[in-house]
This record gives sequence, structure tokens and C-alpha cells, in this order.
Amino acid sequence: MKRILTGERTTGNLHIGHYFGSLQSRVKLQDEYETFIILADMQVLYDHLEDEKGKSIRDNVYRALLDNLSVGLDPDKVTFFVQSEIPELAELTMFFTFLVSIGRAKRNPTVKAEMEQAGTSYEHMNLGFLSFPVSQAADILLPKADLVPVGEDQIPHIEQTREIARRFNSLFGETFPTPDYLVSTSPRLPGLDGQNKMSKSLNNVINLTDDEATVNNRIKKAYSGEGHALFTYGKLFGVEPNERMGTFKPALAESVNAFLEPIRTRRRELEKEPGYLREILDRGRDKVRAIGAETLAQVKERMGMVY
Ligand code: TRP
Repeated sequence: MKRILTGERTTGNLHIGHYFGSLQSRVKLQDEYETFIILADMQVLYDHLEDEKGKSIRDNVYRALLDNLSVGLDPDKVTFFVQSEIPELAELTMFFTFLVSIGRAKRNPTVKAEMEQAGTSYEHMNLGFLSFPVSQAADILLPKADLVPVGEDQIPHIEQTREIARRFNSLFGETFPTPDYLVSTSPRLPGLDGQNKMSKSLNNVINLTDDEATVNNRIKKAYSGEGHALFTYGKLFGVEPNERMGTFKPALAESVNAFLEPIRTRRRELEKEPGYLREILDRGRDKVRAIGAETLAQVKERMGMVY
């Protein structure tokens, strides 16, 4: 079976935009590929170092794991692991940094956009920020993944990964695959404000963890003026468009709640078993570290670092 590596920065709860953008296809692909999902806790640090100080890091890793499991990813098929628990990732990242010029790193459009969003500059951003796509290349190439299902904003990182793989291969001999990306075909779900993409910080989301009353309230308050996005939701959740919002909104809320109910139920069950969740991460760590050790042995051997 070919391999998939994908995952997310563990910054908080996932929302239904994530579901239609990536989780849904993950669930489908888990039967066709050997799937690895990284809970990228270190990648959170580049723009959350000051405000987090460890407070929510731990909770957010378990939130991300629960979000993935509750939508139907099967921990007996899929390997879940925490980025900071795999020292081999740091080691491979270190080797990769020598293959990327600073100019190339600066030309990554997603890094640039996020830097501007974070209100920083090349002069002041931390090195980890500039180089996180290099570390992401290590995430992908340590298990030699063939395919990376991601959102559109991640394409530049996969392109950088492919360049790193090619550069390594041409310098030291065929070692890494040049992985392909797979972008979801369902268009990005707009936020409830109708203006922006779904984003936690804009509070225009429906989270996978929202209870019934929260969903009802969010939809009740959703923007329904010129250019609203509610019929896009209607389409996804099978609710006929209707200009009378007093009828449409409650129907939509009911449908969204019906969709979320089994996800909430599964999550409640899993939340009762923290030991089981840790066990899933233990298994993932052991498996990825073993694969990683093989990759690194090969890398070092090809680079001449065997003493
Ligand atoms: N950058 C991704 C995000 O923002 C998270 C991520 C880290 C990732 N490593 C990865 C995604 C490897 C795909 C493959 O969510």
C-alpha cells in the first residue's frame, strides 16, 4: 500500500470547514493508503510561543486527536503521532536545512502571508517560522509518504518538500519519493459571516464539538443579507434554499445537528478513555520512530556519516 502523511497544527478545535475540506477525504482514503496523521504541536510555536506558554498545547493535541477519531478515522488502520515525540523529525529537519537557501525559504507564499497576518517581518520573525516548511518536509519524508492530502494553502509547502526530495536524491542518490499533494474538490466553506473563510479567530465557524444549542444560536445569528453563504451550507447539508430565513435557518440548524450528533456521541465515548487515547499515541510514536530510524540510517549512510 502507498503511504499518506497528513495532519494539522494543533491550534484548537476543528470545524465543519475542516470536515469538508480534509477530514471527509481522510476517512475515505484510510482504506486505500497506509495513513499517517501528524499532530503538529511544534509547528504551533512559530506564532503561538508567547501567548500559549504551554497552557493549551496539551489539550489541543488531544482535541485534534478526538476530532479525527470522532469523524470516523480508525486508530487500528491509521497511525497517529505527536510531532514533538519523534526526535528523528528534528534530526532530519537539521539535514534538510542545508538544502534550502534563505532566498527560497522567503519565497514561500504561505509563509509570507502568515507572516503578514501575524504582524511580523523577515527581520523579526523567528527562524522556526521561516523554516517550518522544511520541518514539514521532514514530517512527510521521514515515513517516505507518496501522497499528502491538504488544503490549498499548503501546496507551497508540498512543492518545497518535492524540491528538497529532488535535491537530496540528486546529491546523494535516490532516497526519497517526490510526494504528490491532493487538494479537496469541495470548495472552501465560507464562514457564517458570508465574508471570510471559516476561522476560529473570526468566530464565524461551526465546530465539530458544538452542542445543539450552540449550533442553533450560531445559525440564528448568521449573516443573511446580500451575498450570504447560507445556501452553500444548505447544499452541503441537503436543505432546499428558501428566502424566508425564518423557515430556512431552523431547517438548516436541524440538518447540521443531525450530521453532528453521531460525531458528538463518538467523542463522548472516547473522552471517557484517556488511557486508550494515550495508547493510540504510544503505538504511533513507536511505529514512526522505528520507520524514522531506518530512514535516518539510510540518509547518514548516503551522506557518508557512518563512523
Ligand atoms: N502545516 C499544516 C497546517 O497548518 C500542518 C502540518 C504539519 C502538515 N506537518 C504536515 C500537513 C505534514 C501535511 C503534512 O495545518
